[in-house]
Amino acid sequence: MCGIVGYVGPKPAFGYLLEGLFRLEYRGYDSAGVALQYEKTIGIRKKTGRVSQLAEICKQNPIPGSCGIGHTRWATHGEPSDLNSHPHTGGNGEVVLVHNGVIENYSLLRDRLRALGYVFLSATDTEVAAHLVAYQLQVAVDAGTNPLDAKTCVQAVEAAAAQIKGTYGLAVLFRDVPGLLVATRLGSPLVVGIGRGEHFLASDASPLVGNTDQIVYLKDHETAVITADSFVLHHHDGTAPAVSIQALVQTSRDTELGEFEHHMLKEIFEQPQTIENALRGRLDDEEATAKFGGLNLDPQTLRAIDRIVLTGCGTSWHAGLVGEYLIEGFARIPVEVEYASELRYRNPPMSDRTMIFAITQSGETADTLAAMRECKRKGHPTLAICNTVGSSIAREADGGIYLHAGPEVGVASTKAFTSQVTVLTLLSLLLGRMRHLSYPEGTKIIGQLRAMPDTIRQTLKCFDQVKQVARKYYTAENFLYLGRLFNFPVALEGALKLKEISYIHAEGYPAAEMKHGPIALIEKDTPSVFIAPRCEIYPKVMSNLEEVKARRGPVIAIACEGDTKIAELADDVIYVPEVEEYLQPLVTSIPLQLLAYQIAILRGCNVDRPRNLAKSVTVE
Ligand code: M6R
Repeated sequence: MCGIVGYVGPKPAFGYLLEGLFRLEYRGYDSAGVALQYEKTIGIRKKTGRVSQLAEICKQNPIPGSCGIGHTRWATHGEPSDLNSHPHTGGNGEVVLVHNGVIENYSLLRDRLRALGYVFLSATDTEVAAHLVAYQLQVAVDAGTNPLDAKTCVQAVEAAAAQIKGTYGLAVLFRDVPGLLVATRLGSPLVVGIGRGEHFLASDASPLVGNTDQIVYLKDHETAVITADSFVLHHHDGTAPAVSIQALVQTSRDTELGEFEHHMLKEIFEQPQTIENALRGRLDDEEATAKFGGLNLDPQTLRAIDRIVLTGCGTSWHAGLVGEYLIEGFARIPVEVEYASELRYRNPPMSDRTMIFAITQSGETADTLAAMRECKRKGHPTLAICNTVGSSIAREADGGIYLHAGPEVGVASTKAFTSQVTVLTLLSLLLGRMRHLSYPEGTKIIGQLRAMPDTIRQTLKCFDQVKQVARKYYTAENFLYLGRLFNFPVALEGALKLKEISYIHAEGYPAAEMKHGPIALIEKDTPSVFIAPRCEIYPKVMSNLEEVKARRGPVIAIACEGDTKIAELADDVIYVPEVEEYLQPLVTSIPLQLLAYQIAILRGCNVDRPRNLAKSVTVE
């Protein structure tokens, strides 16, 4: 969470900082702020709310300077307020910094600093870091052996960082050392963009697009010492790591809205294309299997796997559940799907032949990264199914599979889910063909996958039906989502989509579990969404649906085209094309995404920036 930007160069820094903050707003939008150095002063503007509100106050009261930092906040310590907004000031204003992460020992450090006379104005953990750097600077200068220069500033930052327990990405300005930007990280990503006579800083590469195509990802415990003309890396252990420059490949058009009103809607409608991207080059007709360039595992190792752990959070975890059904069905390998936030602290028994997949859109989710590292530490092959090229998880994994879905901007994950499911289908095909699946079965699956982009195009035509249903139910305060087998994870995902963007309480359940408790919630104002395409146990799902109707609960059914029987039972039906059971999540998740979107719109919610959330959860 939280976005960081920084600039040092010949131009006024404000333009880059503001544009960068707009691009990083998905990481948090509780408040935004900038600090710019000008001669021997640092001007600060910060404001609760969106980056546009910050832009407004800066228009009325501009600040000059060609060296600056900026921040967009997702509150962890201290409510969203002007005072708690970043940047924060240390000492008597000689240090100004922004921070992403959580300082776990902040209260201990704050007490120590208070005892030394430092005055705290905010309720944040970050202000501790600002005063700590100022204190370390003071100690170094007072000792008389150090001049107040860049080297001393770097030492002060590193000495402060060494006392912090938790995670941090820090960008620091020094009032009395103009033109210097120092950045350091532990657990929270930072990337430096190299320009001609200028340097850029950001917490991910998106603000750098259009400014430079040369980037350097900072590693944990590294400090970047940045001026307009120079950029050096320093490790906290005193060494100077080599600078590894990578090419930034992305066009800014990827994140533009085009004809759509919201990113979420645009991303829902991109799915025929994104599924095609996930399949491209990965279907091997000759061998009737799937192939991946980046797994970095030889066939022997893949054949020897006796257990798979899929881990992730939120929507990515739901995709993992679909993956469990797919892999166990096609390859007969036992699969566990673990919440990354649990796995990182659990110690489940895992054999030498257990393989881990971290599933993540952003590649920056703190819990998923930590779970992956924990598994790596134990020596397991740890792979990523990831969308964001160059993200922390993509870089740290032993290998992996990219989704190639393009940037997902809407906080509600949509196209990443279907791409994750597509990739997991390919993976189960690959593992299945090494074990139990026959050549004709492999060929059949390939044919069906190839048809999927068109099927999704057809599915999206349900939007008009969805709009009618949304109009009827958007005032409801509770929803149930019910499905069985492959559609149970879809029920969970549908409920999550509705909760996060429309603030309606929604629960996803296996349809048959309902009678073990949730059926008590059924009443005339609580709609149940039944995900009920034709499948092996369709009659059983129908019985569950009857149970709801018998209790006068309204039913919205997601059903296969031509299913007239369900229309007699359900109050409303949204029709989708019929596909094989194992491909149903790709199809049935679409009307649920659209339903959540449309209900949120009718309730006047901000679908792309729902309250309390951030796109990328980079704190624990
Ligand atoms: O970037 P990741 O896939 O690791 O993110 C995981 C979750 O934070 C994410 O899926 C979240 O649940 C979404 N807001 C759901 O729409």
